[in-house]
Amino acid sequence: MHHEFWHQRWEEGKIGFHEGKPNEHLLAHGPKLSLEDARVLVPLCGKSVDLAWLAAQGAEVVGVELVTSAVEQFFAEQGLVPERTKVGALERFHVPDLTIFAGDFFVLDAATAGGSFDVCWDRAALVALPTGMRERYVAHQRSLVRSGGTTLLVTFEHDGPTTEPPFSVPSALVRSLYADDAVEALAVEDSPLSPGLASRGATFVRDHVYRIVRA
Ligand SMILES: C[S@@+](CC[C@H](N)C(=O)[O-])C[C@H]1O[C@@H](n2cnc3c(N)ncnc32)[C@H](O)[C@@H]1O
Repeated sequence: MHHEFWHQRWEEGKIGFHEGKPNEHLLAHGPKLSLEDARVLVPLCGKSVDLAWLAAQGAEVVGVELVTSAVEQFFAEQGLVPERTKVGALERFHVPDLTIFAGDFFVLDAATAGGSFDVCWDRAALVALPTGMRERYVAHQRSLVRSGGTTLLVTFEHDGPTTEPPFSVPSALVRSLYADDAVEALAVEDSPLSPGLASRGATFVRDHVYRIVRA
């Protein structure tokens, strides 16, 4: 999507994707990931409280979010005052064990991020991107995760619109995007239909959860 689309969504408060509590799939499968002292990447993180949950498990967490006000809201809502530093085109917000880069995910490289990652938590990142950007996203995400590192991925499948996020990402697409890696399906679950998707004609939403080990 164009950056402007997301800036507008945040400006207008149209953030129906924000859960305000740790994601249920993260709670179910995260504890199996050896998070203690792991470096965890959270791409396209919004102001997800998953970041705080991961840090509370002893992980060193690095999120990336395009919209600076979302990052500011995250720290304010957590009652944290981050140190802010410009790093090229990004702005780094940092408290012990938790860093969020405000800016374009595609600009973040491993050196700027402080090294590669053991774990990646992707909830509503891949599904936020339209056809054509997903290959680029996966290539970039894989460049940040070390060989043997694990991605816990949550995608949605639905019969609603194909022109706006969340995009329906079927299983075959996940397997083709991550063809070089070991992809294991962990769960498939019907999810409550959001008012946004229902109003645009969707009749179901299904969550798919994958564990992907990088080659
Ligand atoms: C569907 S939301 C999901 C947010 C979060 N993962 C969650 O579960 O609440 C997608 C987020 O990605 C951000 N985003 C979109 N394109 C981005 C990019 N190129 N780089 C960084 N963040 C981006 C948007 O601003 C938005 O907050």
